[in-house]
Amino acid sequence: AKEQYHEFVIQEASVTRLCREHSIMTVNGQFPGPAVEISEGDSLIVRVINRGSYNVTVHWHGVRQMRTGWSDGPEYVTQCPIRPGQSYTYRFTVAGQEGTLWWHAHSSWLRATVHGALIIRPRAGVTAYPFNAVAAGGKPPAGEIPILLGEWWDMNPIDVVRTATRTGAAPNISDALTVNGQPGDLYRCSSKDTTTFPVKSGETNLLRFINAALNTELFVSLAGHTMTVVGADASYTKPYSTSVLMIAPGQTTDVLVTFDQPPGRYYLAARAYASAQGVPFDNTTTTAIFDYSSSSGSSSSSPAMPTLPAYNDTATATTFTTSLRGLRKAELPSRIDENLFFTVGVGLFNCSSGQKCGGPNNTRFAASMNNVSFVLPSTVSILQAHYGGAQAQQGVFTDDFPANPPVQFDYTAQNVSRTLWQPAPGTKVYRLKYGAAVQLVLQGTNIFAGENHPIHIHGYDFYILAEGFGNFDAATDTAKFNLDDPPMRNTVGVPVNGWAAIRFVADNPGVWLMHCHLDVHITWGLAMAFLVEDGVGELQSLEAPPPDLPLC
Ligand code: C2O
Repeated sequence: AKEQYHEFVIQEASVTRLCREHSIMTVNGQFPGPAVEISEGDSLIVRVINRGSYNVTVHWHGVRQMRTGWSDGPEYVTQCPIRPGQSYTYRFTVAGQEGTLWWHAHSSWLRATVHGALIIRPRAGVTAYPFNAVAAGGKPPAGEIPILLGEWWDMNPIDVVRTATRTGAAPNISDALTVNGQPGDLYRCSSKDTTTFPVKSGETNLLRFINAALNTELFVSLAGHTMTVVGADASYTKPYSTSVLMIAPGQTTDVLVTFDQPPGRYYLAARAYASAQGVPFDNTTTTAIFDYSSSSGSSSSSPAMPTLPAYNDTATATTFTTSLRGLRKAELPSRIDENLFFTVGVGLFNCSSGQKCGGPNNTRFAASMNNVSFVLPSTVSILQAHYGGAQAQQGVFTDDFPANPPVQFDYTAQNVSRTLWQPAPGTKVYRLKYGAAVQLVLQGTNIFAGENHPIHIHGYDFYILAEGFGNFDAATDTAKFNLDDPPMRNTVGVPVNGWAAIRFVADNPGVWLMHCHLDVHITWGLAMAFLVEDGVGELQSLEAPPPDLPLC
């Protein structure tokens, strides 16, 4: 295993998109940011130097961070922000995970432009891709292509979220979706801003999809070609062939494609899966071009366009996500130490008296888990306060996050009375004993509008045992759990008006944020944190904070 050193300089760079020049925050002047490529077992040392004008942190999305919680990155959860002019060095090892992850800013909405791929190949000389034999004729893919799907705003995204936070209204939707930072030629002034992937006829490539969009779940399709999914969130899956992917923000999907069609140019296209009814969304289509036209040149004709599902096609989205299976048999503990039931949903705060708020009927948008609308501390990170002991925790957080919702009702009914559901702001964690076997049912609610929520847990991968529609019913739904080959992921889409059941073992001490990966929802408080206590012995304890850990 090797050790890799990188320098990430956060700096402004100028780019032109949709007819206008913008100054955006980047890493090393690149948008999207640099891809980090490692082998399983390698260690990364990344010095982040902030030469920008905003506070920033970097999160290594999906990396387990075993006992290295100080390098996880969420602002005010595991560290204070890196202020302009300061730097911080992230140090961690990537072990037991292979495939595609990514890194992104975890401060305000900076991740709109501050993000990049994290590619984990098998350990050199030890293993090959397990999918070589099953899906590529025994050979490794001839090429590998990271594909970052994103969202572009004409306004500075930081101003978009600041305005929304001030008024309580919903933030502006994006102005374009992007593939590797480019909107593609269906948008105004964008004919030159189209990503082209030159590929060879007859070859099989591995496409590493990352949904880096802030607020948009995406359907993805490649004209004329079948995609075979072989991995998701850096865990291998049984090969699954499909013409359409649904990838939620935070999720990655690795697919094999064989370029077996007549030589030509083929559009890759992505468009929103918008599960909420009547809520505005970016209804545009981004494209890139896979080009294996023959030298005689068929490139003057326009590329073939794939058929994408309708924006509200929940059936197709659900078929895709529930068809994924882990490649190997799951290692599930036979006991359950913590049986948790958390609601996830968007609701509304009453506006303080005399104020004018921008939400529906003079309210402010709020979101919550088990009625707690998560509030970040501002003077110290939760992890620092935890590490500092009882005294340091005073006034920073409490450990009374409820294991169950405070009120029971029909979670998926329309127009539930708001008296049943007044979210309360708070910085509450749920305490887990080291090594506890956790089962967590995430139940979507329909307080404001039902919606598919991609829920991400930091510091853990988890098995997705089942998902379903309606209210979770332990008596009948437990029988549907897949205890054999459930997929392992770090982000699960909790279906609109439905639920998802997951399991993990709390073997990583620290403070781990769990949140909806739609940034608009984390802004509104759709988050909580698990505090996993130290075990006995050196290898079961969080390491000491590094000397350069930023202070608030
Ligand atoms: Cu990818 Cu807390 O985020």
